[in-house]
Amino acid sequence: LGTLVQIVQSFWPQLLQGLLITLGLAAITVFFGTLVGALFALIKLSKNKLVQAVCTAYVELIRGTPLLLQLWLFITVFSTLSGGDMPMLVSVIIALVVNSSAYVAEIIRSGIQSVDKGQREAAKSLGMSNRNTMTKIILPQAVKNILPALGNEFVMMVKETSLASTFFIGELMTVNTVIKSATYKSIEPLVIVGLIYFIVTFTLSKGVKYMERRLSVSD
Ligand code: ARG
Repeated sequence: LGTLVQIVQSFWPQLLQGLLITLGLAAITVFFGTLVGALFALIKLSKNKLVQAVCTAYVELIRGTPLLLQLWLFITVFSTLSGGDMPMLVSVIIALVVNSSAYVAEIIRSGIQSVDKGQREAAKSLGMSNRNTMTKIILPQAVKNILPALGNEFVMMVKETSLASTFFIGELMTVNTVIKSATYKSIEPLVIVGLIYFIVTFTLSKGVKYMERRLSVSD
């Protein structure tokens, strides 16, 4: 225990910085992942069969291959195309956003489809336009399912960004390696970094549960 305290005392600035990079990466990823994912979800719900098929292929391909492989692929391809000029962090962020967008597309699509069919029919029978039906009737109800799921996606990404430590990107899991090389201790940094991940994800998950309960009150 003494060693753990000692390590935290000497490495807290690095640990704090690693945590901030982890949270920042997760936030950027889920923000842009949601923008791109929403687009894909809407296309998947549209009527054009061809673009629909392209979107489905994208989502299934991304969800059917490991994130670590996608990180390697984007980093390698971008670095080759740019002659080594592409900053690694940018490639990592693009890979994370692409990955998250596929999961978010499914979150939003299923959130929209979970709204009872009768709601759309009722809006139609009142003469509401497609656009109004979507923005005034469907989306306000879908949000109750979508927001908590996006919260969970953020919690997931906090952990998933640790895969980027393979490329020494500076997030929390990278700090584990930094401490290990500086102290020649291998278990202690894992325990410390693991505790930080746990405290953050546990707290965030509680927050998501709370939001879920609040959003379902009006049901
Ligand atoms: N770690 C798994 C993988 O490599 C899950 C990725 C989950 N991604 C997400 N955006 N929820 O494929």
